[in-house]
Amino acid sequence: MTGGAAPGAIRSDGGDACGQAPLVDGFGRLFTYLRVSVTERCHLRCRYCAPAQGERQRAKEDALGPAQFDRLLTVFRRLGAHHVRFTGGEPLVYAGLNDRIRQARALGFERVSVTTNGHLLARKAPGLAAAGLDDVNVSLDSLDPARFTQITGGGDLNRVLAGLAAARRFLARVKLNVVLLRDQNLSEVLDLVAFAAAYGYDIRFIETMPLGAAGAAAVAQSYVSAATVQARIAERYRLRPLAQAADGGPARRFALEDGPVEIGFISPVSREFCETCNRLRLTARGRLVYCLGGTEGIDLRAALARGFDDEALEALIRGEVTQNKPKGHGFGSGAHAVPVHMMAIGG
Ligand code: 5AD
Ligand code: SF4
Repeated sequence: MTGGAAPGAIRSDGGDACGQAPLVDGFGRLFTYLRVSVTERCHLRCRYCAPAQGERQRAKEDALGPAQFDRLLTVFRRLGAHHVRFTGGEPLVYAGLNDRIRQARALGFERVSVTTNGHLLARKAPGLAAAGLDDVNVSLDSLDPARFTQITGGGDLNRVLAGLAAARRFLARVKLNVVLLRDQNLSEVLDLVAFAAAYGYDIRFIETMPLGAAGAAAVAQSYVSAATVQARIAERYRLRPLAQAADGGPARRFALEDGPVEIGFISPVSREFCETCNRLRLTARGRLVYCLGGTEGIDLRAALARGFDDEALEALIRGEVTQNKPKGHGFGSGAHAVPVHMMAIGG
C-alpha cells in the first residue's frame, strides 16, 4: 500500500494522485495502465484481426459518447491509472480523439499513447501532438507493398511510411508493431529490424493470437514463435537485455547494438506473461474487459445509464476486478480460440 504519494508523484508502484488505494486484483496485480478502444471502425481488414463480412460490428449507437468516455477516464485516473492508450479499431478515424487526449492530459495521466495503423497519421500527427500525445505505436507487418496490402486487406504501405515520417517529426517516441506470420513476414524480420534501426523506431514482434475467427485462422496457418524470430535476429544483431518496462509491459526487451533503439518480443501464445499483467481494457461500447483471452468484464455503459456517480463506479470496478479478473488467458493451453475479435477489444 502506498497511500502517502504526493499529488503528481505518481509511481508505477501504485501511488495515485487522488490518494486512493491503488486498484489491485485478487492475484496482487496492480492496475496502472488503461487501454481505451475509442471505436470499432477500421478501414482495413488485417487478416489476423478483422471479423469476416458476415459478423461486422453492430450499430454505432452502441458506442460511448464523449462525456461518457471522459467520465470513465476520470474514474480510472482516480483508481490510480497513470498511462492511457487509445486504440480501436482504428482510433484515428474517431473524430473525438484529440479531445480525449486533451482530457487525459488535463486529468494528469503521465503518459498518453495511441496505437494506429498509420494511414491517417501524416495528416493527423501535428494535431495529436498539439493535443498532448506522447507516443504512438504503428502497425507495420511488411515492407513489401504488395504483401502489406494483402496482410492488411487493402492497406497502403506508402501512406504508413508517410505517417511514420510525420510521427517522427512531431512525437517523442514511435514504435513499430509487427505481428509475426510464418508464411508472410518471417522472411522480412531482418529487413524490419534494419528499417527500425535506420530511422530510430523501437520495434516489437508479436506472436499472432487466437482472437476471434480471424485470429484463430491466423494462428492455425501462420503461427511462429517469438523465440524463433529472436534467435534469427540475434544471429545478425547484438541484443542487450533490458529490464522489464517501467509500466510492467509484457515484452522481453533488448537494446539493439547497444544503441537507443529498443527491440521487443511479445509471446502471448508461447509464454504466459499474465503474472505481471498491469492493464485493463475499456471497449468502445463501454465494457471493461479483464483480459484479451476472455469475454468477462463489467458493463460500465449500463452503470452510467443507471446513474452511478464516480464513487459508485469506482466501488463497482474495484470490487469486480478484485474478485473476477482471471489469472491468465490460457492461449498456450491448446487450440482454443477466444470468441472476441481484436477489433472490438483494441489489442
Ligand atoms: N494477434 C496479435 N496481434 C494482433 N493485433 C491485431 N490482431 C492481432 C492478433 N490476432 C495487433 C495489431 C496492432 C495491435 C492493435 O494489435 O497488429 O498492432
Ligand atoms: Fe484495422 Fe488494426 Fe485490426 Fe488491422 S489490426 S484491421 S488496422 S484494427
